[in-house]
Amino acid sequence: MTTPSASTFVERAWHPVARSVDLAGEPVGAELLGRPFVVFRGVDGAPAVLAGRCPHRGTLLAGGRVVDGAVACPYHGWQFGPTGACQRIPSLGRTGAIPAAAATVAFPAVERDGLVWTSLDPDADPDAIPWYPSPGRSEVGDLRVIVGRPMVWRTSAGRHLENILDLGHFPYVHPTTFGCPEAEVVAPHEVAAEPGRIRCDVEVTTLNPPVGEGRLYPELGPLLRLGYHYEVDLPYRIRLDFAFPDGMQRALHEVVAPTAPDRCTIYWSLLVDRRLTSPDEEELAFAHRVFAEDQPVIESQPPGVPLDRRAEIHLPADRLAVAWRRAMREAGMPEEALV
Ligand code: FES
Ligand SMILES: [Fe+2]
Repeated sequence: MTTPSASTFVERAWHPVARSVDLAGEPVGAELLGRPFVVFRGVDGAPAVLAGRCPHRGTLLAGGRVVDGAVACPYHGWQFGPTGACQRIPSLGRTGAIPAAAATVAFPAVERDGLVWTSLDPDADPDAIPWYPSPGRSEVGDLRVIVGRPMVWRTSAGRHLENILDLGHFPYVHPTTFGCPEAEVVAPHEVAAEPGRIRCDVEVTTLNPPVGEGRLYPELGPLLRLGYHYEVDLPYRIRLDFAFPDGMQRALHEVVAPTAPDRCTIYWSLLVDRRLTSPDEEELAFAHRVFAEDQPVIESQPPGVPLDRRAEIHLPADRLAVAWRRAMREAGMPEEALV
């Protein structure tokens, strides 16, 4: 039977491929690093992740159905169970022997925090799955968790992640939400790197966003000096905490799935101070306004962050991105990689 194989640390890392809520009945298609997958639940309810193409004629299994805890191919009805073994080939009748090669590849599947995670490494350690905000998680503390709908961007996971790390774009890309000319000069900051993780604290001046007649934070002035605390777990998980002058806290969490060289799926959540009573929908709507400002600019870049340090020009304002690229190289990604 075929087994999964992984060569780079990005392939060996865990990535989300589906949300738990989407796995109610029909199989769900997913993509990772340009390869198709199919995700479904076995008879015991546990999620299964299989290579997405039928070994018979290459049809995408995600177009099929789940029958008795197996995924049935939409073309000729072959059924594959959670281990990837073919359990039934209808055209052979009851007595025909199923050929040994009639199997697809099963990948690790772990359901955690409302997401189904997989890795291309058959021996991937589930302890390496990054924590993701979900109600009841102790790491969330007293903050309210608002889970966003996953977004698909036509750019690589690295380009999207670097956009969150980018401190120099606020006045140009976000003039209608939180950007202001006072943020033109990026405050000095240092990035702390340890294997697999970078961290950084930096102060950012933002607009107190105008909403309707007033401001998003009515008790605070028109300009805010916020503490940004970044934490990135390689390759593509990011947490950005915002500390407000009055002690209020907010955070953005993302795990970006590298679905293809020019495409990514962003699983994201907001963590919001309990003192903020704005409805979840309002919080999500504001976040979407901010993302909508970024998306066309980021999608206009060539997809794929070049890890070659000479490929683009770096300024002190780009220190976080530079540190992330270096950390990716130190984790084993080749200099010529586009991530
Ligand atoms: S292509 Fe899948 S069963 Fe024939
Ligand atoms: Fe932005």
